[in-house]
Formats: sequence, structure tokens, C-alpha cells
Amino acid sequence: MDAQQLRDAYIKFFEEKGHAHISSASLIPDNDPTVLFTTAGMHPLVPYLLGEKHPMGKRLVNYQRCIRTGDIDSVGDATHLTFFEMLGNWSIGDYFKKESIDYSFEFLTKILGFKKEQLAVTVFVGGEGISKDDYSAQQWKSHGLADEQIFYYGRKDNWWGPAGQTGPCGPDTEIFYDNGQPRCSENCGPSCHCGKYTEIWNNVFMEFFKGADKKYTPLKQKNVDTGMGLERVCCILQKVPSVYESSIFKPIISKIETICGKEYKEPYLRDIRIIADHVRAATFILADGVVPSKIGQGYILRRLIRRASRNMHNLGCRKLFMKEIAAVVIDEFGVSYPELIDNKENIFKNLVAEEEKFQKTLIKGLKKFDDMLVENGDSKVFRGDLVFKLFDTFGFPVELTAELAAEKGLFVDMCDFNNRFEMHQDKSRDSNSQIFKGGLIDQSEKTTKLHTATHLLNAALRNLIDKNIRQKGSNITAERLRFDFNFNRKLTTEELQKISDYVNSAIAKDIPVVCKEMPKDEAIAMGAIGVFDNKYEDIVKVYIIGDISMEFCGGPHVGHTGEIEGFKIIKEESSAAGIRRIKAIVGKYNIN
Ligand code: ALA
Repeated sequence: MDAQQLRDAYIKFFEEKGHAHISSASLIPDNDPTVLFTTAGMHPLVPYLLGEKHPMGKRLVNYQRCIRTGDIDSVGDATHLTFFEMLGNWSIGDYFKKESIDYSFEFLTKILGFKKEQLAVTVFVGGEGISKDDYSAQQWKSHGLADEQIFYYGRKDNWWGPAGQTGPCGPDTEIFYDNGQPRCSENCGPSCHCGKYTEIWNNVFMEFFKGADKKYTPLKQKNVDTGMGLERVCCILQKVPSVYESSIFKPIISKIETICGKEYKEPYLRDIRIIADHVRAATFILADGVVPSKIGQGYILRRLIRRASRNMHNLGCRKLFMKEIAAVVIDEFGVSYPELIDNKENIFKNLVAEEEKFQKTLIKGLKKFDDMLVENGDSKVFRGDLVFKLFDTFGFPVELTAELAAEKGLFVDMCDFNNRFEMHQDKSRDSNSQIFKGGLIDQSEKTTKLHTATHLLNAALRNLIDKNIRQKGSNITAERLRFDFNFNRKLTTEELQKISDYVNSAIAKDIPVVCKEMPKDEAIAMGAIGVFDNKYEDIVKVYIIGDISMEFCGGPHVGHTGEIEGFKIIKEESSAAGIRRIKAIVGKYNIN
């Protein structure tokens, strides 16, 4: 079974069980400043897991594109990927443990053909006031799983979420494929890394909310959130040792082999895997509108492209190659992810531009290297601070510095370099971890106000400044809203004042904010606006604020505009070519 057949089989199976197929959301979380990328299928569904009504119903299924960058440095071995696909099914306050386990068992055995003896499962052993999940264990037994196939673990293994510091979470039951090899020791089980067990599916019983005070409170509703790793399952079904040998990566790897004239085997395995993973990830990130930059998602994208480029350099390739590989990715995944096809030209343009820039960095770095040789003097050891400077200031890969130094009969002080590098890593880890501080989608009263204020601001811009203005980005933290829109000049002080007055007058009128569900086409015909780069389901939610605003949106919003109390613009600036950015705050004392 290839990836396309697996996606289709999964969707069809759950559709037959009454699930609505929702599309894969963008890799860039909407309105969630706490994480850089969508890391799991549940991510875009957080508001619904917390109690908002989903327009497509209580049973949902999809395949979701995801990025996890935590292990970026491990990519190159047989198991780590930055980009992956997650197959998921959800019950939003509908079925719970029984059906979830029944569906998983049926899908794995009847559709994918696993024998029940090839499965092992784990369940939550209980603790911290939450009881042992005997119910799930019993349910697995009812399908014929023996006691030896059921393992009880604690919070570290059998609890999922929240994805940030706060959010929905709960105990889970994880399903593993057992390859049949003997247990490596008495204690061998699914949490062991000997290779006997591979996790394939995680069924999370999301019934708790972890608050900022670290306390767990029961959610309004009991949800199920599942995630199956598409690449892993393909790999098992195709009986190949790693995902890179599966049909998913075959065309990409063949292309790399052709371009660089090296075969996918030692000593090139690691370089080729990194290129394959990183170009695939970069292509998807570009398709979702990110461009390479120094911060946030753009920085990760830049790193992926540069690392791929560097590894291609290791393989002796000196030409621009990325576009050709991206074309293979688009060809292969475009059917499932049409945004790849829609944004093809943009993807190519940005990849080539970044690749060219990096090649220049390499050339510049080579020159700097010569200058530094002089600075280094007669010593046979090339100083760590110089290596680090080449790396940090000029983006020059340390492996290359080492190679060049070796050519001159020098060796680099890697120990000193590594110390400096680690210090630098700690610093950037600290600043990156800030991003997770707030937890996954803060649904506080304050952010809800900011969210409704964003709709009013959008309306003000369209009604007062230019009706062609469209939302190009939105980001809400507990303190402020940030709204990006297309417009090609700075707004004047008078214009900003008019916008503020407009929003504050809407707040003063205390207009009801009404949510309506309707077919997408009807909403468009009514004039509702949305971020049309986004995909919408057939049935959508539209938030209407009097005759001022009508927007496609998942919510939540305040009930009346008066709850926002006041609105104040604190900054207007350029965000990118042709894109302006407004930052604003809300509250009683924030009126201007
Ligand atoms: N959200 C769960 C996971 O990512 C299903 O494993």
C-alpha cells in the first residue's frame, strides 16, 4: 500500500463511521503565537476540543501536514523527519474510549491486514488523582489481545498534551507494531528502543484541561484525538527498513542520486537523507506562504534550505539543484496537497533565491577563510573563535572550514568551537522556548476580545482605506493583536486616527456578535470575507458584527462589541514588500 492508498483508505474508513473529512490545515497555526508550526492534527482543532462547535460536526477525520523541529539535528538517521503526515480521527464530545479502540482495531486488522498478534498496546497506569485506565485495557482484551500484549505506563509514556504549557490533554492508549523478534530483556516492552516495537497510532482521551496554574480540570466534554504516523505505517506495510526506502521517498532520492551522481548507499546515506527530508519540508513550508528570513518560521525554513545546500555540497554538487527536487515533491504530493501546485512558482522562486544567496555566502566565506588564515598566523591549529566567527557571522559551515583547514595542513580547534557553539545553542534554545511559554492557543477573555477587535480592524481598513485590503496574517498574544494586510504605503497619522475612531465607535455601540453556520458558497454569496489562501470546509462558521463585518472564522469571539471596552493602535509598520502590519491593544483605558 502506498501513501496515497493509505490516506484514501483511512479517510474512507472513518467516513463510513460518520466522520466528516476536513482538509489539512496550514503548517502555520492560525492565531496561535505559541508555536511555530502545526505539530499534530489536533492543533487546528483546539478551540473545538475546548467546546466550540465545529461546523462539520462531532466526528472528524483528515490527514494533516506537520512539522516538528525539535530533532532537526538528528535528521539523517533512519527514523527522524522534520516534515511528516499525521492521519487523525476525532470525536469532539461524541464517542469515547470504546469506539475509539474498536475503530482502531478494525482499521488495523481488517483494512491494513495486521494480525492481532502483531500488535501491542500501552495504557495509562494512573496517578496524580487520575485512575488507572482498566477500561481501555479491557476493551483491547475484548478484541482478543492477550495480557502480554498490554502494557501499563505512567505519565511519561501514556499521557499526551498539552502541546504548549496549557490546553487540552489526557491519558492515551498507544498502539505498536511488534515485528516478532524476541524480547531483548525481561523488561522489554513498547517503551524499549531495541527495535521490536514501533509506535504506529496514538489515541488520546482528551478529557482534561491543563491550566497556567498546572492544575488539571475536567473539560466540558470528553474528546478523542488520534494520530497515526503515515510514514511509519507505510514503511511497515512496505516491509522496508526505513522511511527513506519507502515509496514516499523513492522518487525524491532517485532525483538526488541523478543530480549529484552518487548512489543512495554508504558513505552518502546521511547526506542524501538530510537533503530529501529538508527539501520536502522546505517545499511544504513555502507552499504555506513563509519566506526565508532571520526569525520564526522563516528562520527554520532558511536553515532547512541551507542545510540541504550544504549537504549537496558535501556530495560534490556545485550547481543549483533545489528546484528540480522540489518539482518532484510537488508532483508526488500535489494531489493530496493542492496548495503545492497553486504556489509552485512562488516555491521555486524563493528556493532558488535562497539557494543562490547561500552559494554567495559560501563564496564569501571562502574569502573570509583566507583572511582568517592570515589572522591565525603560523599556528598549526586553526583557532576555535575564528571557526565560530565564520559559522556565526558568515553562515559558513564548520565542516567546510575543517576541510579547507585540512587542505592547508591545519586542524581546527573543534573543542573550543564546540564550547562556543553550545553556548550559542543554549541561548537560542532559551529564546525559542519562550514561544511555548503561553501554552497552546490562549483562550482567555483578553485574547477573545483581541480576536473580535481584529475583525473590526479588518473592517475599518476595508471600509475606510481600501476595499481591496485583505488579511495576510494575524497573531494574537495575551497582550496585543497583530494584523498584516496588503497595502503598499505607510498609513498616515490621520488615517490611523480614523481607523481607531471607527473601531472605538463600533465598540461604543455594543453591537451583538452573531455566529452563523452555512454552506460555504452561500457565505461567499452573502459577501463574507475570509483568508482565501486558507482552505474552508463546505459548511463554514461566519461571524457577523452588525453591518460592519462578516468573516469566515472558527471563533471564539465576544458576545457584544462593548466587551472589548477600548481599542488603541500602538504601531504601524512594514512587514514585507507590499504588506503592512498594525499592532493594537484593547481594554478600558486603551482608547485613542
Ligand atoms: N495528538 C496526538 C499525537 O500527536 C494524537 O500523538
